[in-house]
Amino acid sequence: MTEIQVLDFDTQLFGFKVGKFMDSRISSEKAAEIIRECKSNNIKCIYADLDINDFVSLGTAVKYGFVISDIRVIFEKDLTNFENNYEKKLRDYGIDDIVKDEDLPYLELLSKELSLTSRFEFDNNFPKGSAERLYKLWMVNSINKRVADKIFIAREIKSQNAVGVITCKKNSDYGEIILFVVSKEHKGKGLGSFILNHTFHFFKENSIKKVRVVTQARNIPAQRLYQKNGFLTCATSVLFHLWIK
Ligand SMILES: CC(C)(COP(=O)(O)OP(=O)(O)OC[C@H]1O[C@@H](n2cnc3c(N)ncnc32)[C@H](O)[C@@H]1OP(=O)(O)O)[C@@H](O)C(=O)NCCC(=O)NCCS
Repeated sequence: MTEIQVLDFDTQLFGFKVGKFMDSRISSEKAAEIIRECKSNNIKCIYADLDINDFVSLGTAVKYGFVISDIRVIFEKDLTNFENNYEKKLRDYGIDDIVKDEDLPYLELLSKELSLTSRFEFDNNFPKGSAERLYKLWMVNSINKRVADKIFIAREIKSQNAVGVITCKKNSDYGEIILFVVSKEHKGKGLGSFILNHTFHFFKENSIKKVRVVTQARNIPAQRLYQKNGFLTCATSVLFHLWIK
C-alpha cells in the first residue's frame, strides 16, 4: 500500500479502518488501484487532500466516487510587527494557561461546539456523534500535551468559568493553532480577537515569527475573524472522502 497510509487514531475512534491517500494528485489508474487496495485490506473510508488547481485530479476523484467533504483554507500571519494592545479593551474577561479540574466540563462543552463545522459532522456516513467524540479527544490530547504544547483559557472574570480556549504548538519555523473556540453565549464580544492576540504575544515572546491555522471554507465566522486579525490565506485544497462499498 505505497500511497495509502492507514490512520490509527481515526480507525480506533470510528471503529472501522480509515486511510489517507498521500498524494495531492490522482489519476484513473491510481483511483482504481486505491479501490482495489482498500477492498483487499478492509479499509472502509479514504481521505484525499487534492490540489484545488488540478482540474483533472478533481474530476477523476468525483468519477471514482470520491465526495467533497471540505475545502481546507490555511491562513498565515506574520508576527514581525505585532504589538499586543488588545487586552486593555476587554474588562470582563481574563486569560491564563492553567487547566483546573472545574474547567473540564466547560472544555468538554467547548469541544462539542468545535465539532459543528467539522467534515465528520457533515458526512453522514460517519456514525452519529463521531465529530463530537473526535474533538473531545483532541481537547483531552491538547490538555495532556500530546497534540499541543500550550493551552490558554479565557475566563469570565465574575464567574471564573472557562468561556473560550485555544491550544497551540510551536513548530521549528512557525506557530500553529490547533483548537480554538469561544462559547456560544460569549460570541461576538471580541473574545475571539482577545484570545488570538494573547496567543500572538506568546508566540512572539518565544521568537516565533509566523502563525498558521487551518479552517474550513464553510466556517465564515472563523475566516472573518482571522482576516480581521491580519491573517492572509496561504493555501487551499479540496478534501474528499471515498467510502468503499
Ligand atoms: C470563530 C469564533 C472563535 C469567533 O469568536 P468571537 O468571540 O465571536 O469573535 P469576535 O467577537 O472576536 O469577532 C471578531 C470578528 O470575527 C468575525 N465574526 C465573528 N463571529 C462572526 C459571525 N457569526 N459571522 C461573521 N463573522 C463573524 C467578524 O469579522 C468579527 O468582527 P466584527 O465583530 O467587527 O464584525 C467563534 O465563532 C467560534 O468559537 N466558532 C466555533 C468554533 C470555530 O469555528 N473555531 C475556529 C476553528 S478554525
